[in-house]
Amino acid sequence: MTRKLRIGVLISGRGSNFKALLDATQQPDFPAEIVCVISNKGQAGGLEYARAAGIPAIVISHTGFASREAFDITVDDQLRRHQVDIVCLAGFMRVLSAEFINRWPDRILNIHPSLLPAFRGLHTHEKTLEAGCKIAGCTVHIVRPALDEGPILAQAAVPVLEGDSPGTLAARILEQEHRIYPEAVRLIAEGRVEIDGMVARIRDSAPTAQPLVNPAPRG
Ligand code: GRF
Repeated sequence: MTRKLRIGVLISGRGSNFKALLDATQQPDFPAEIVCVISNKGQAGGLEYARAAGIPAIVISHTGFASREAFDITVDDQLRRHQVDIVCLAGFMRVLSAEFINRWPDRILNIHPSLLPAFRGLHTHEKTLEAGCKIAGCTVHIVRPALDEGPILAQAAVPVLEGDSPGTLAARILEQEHRIYPEAVRLIAEGRVEIDGMVARIRDSAPTAQPLVNPAPRG
């Protein structure tokens, strides 16, 4: 097998998406490996998954830096020290500077819990419920300097159910996040993504046959 793509993961909390990536990369035939995890929070639960797997778990507390740029440079240094090829944001709650993003052109991925371009930013599940959406979902995209914007690599849709709370909807979406993030990384690692402006073209992909309709038609 050719050399595996080297991933650096940035987290701030629970780290369930990092864990999903970790599980995928631990499959022998997966074309990418995680080489370091960086958290801006020392208490991030996800750090434990890294330690248990013997992956360098680095804490860089943003509170110790005078500026966003200084923090970003330190993160950048660590990623380069570990010879990272692509950066996966997985619940990383810091906005990265345009300088940082431009140093990793089309090499930063993010997972967002909505069907972008709808509902950028925080509180996506609350916004989805307030808007009365019948379908919600999640998106893996390439990071560009504008928040939650960039070529879309993969999306998954789920129904919004009557009586959903932000928590129940979040749980349903999170399950899909854990499916599509590793798949999106695989697409990149297999060299199947071509970026054309804001559009990511995916070679040899099988479209999902079944449309999701909610509520289900009776007839
Ligand atoms: C996920 O919902 C992700 O989409 C969003 O932040 C949350 C992180 O969860 N960006 P976890 O830390 O991966 O469990």
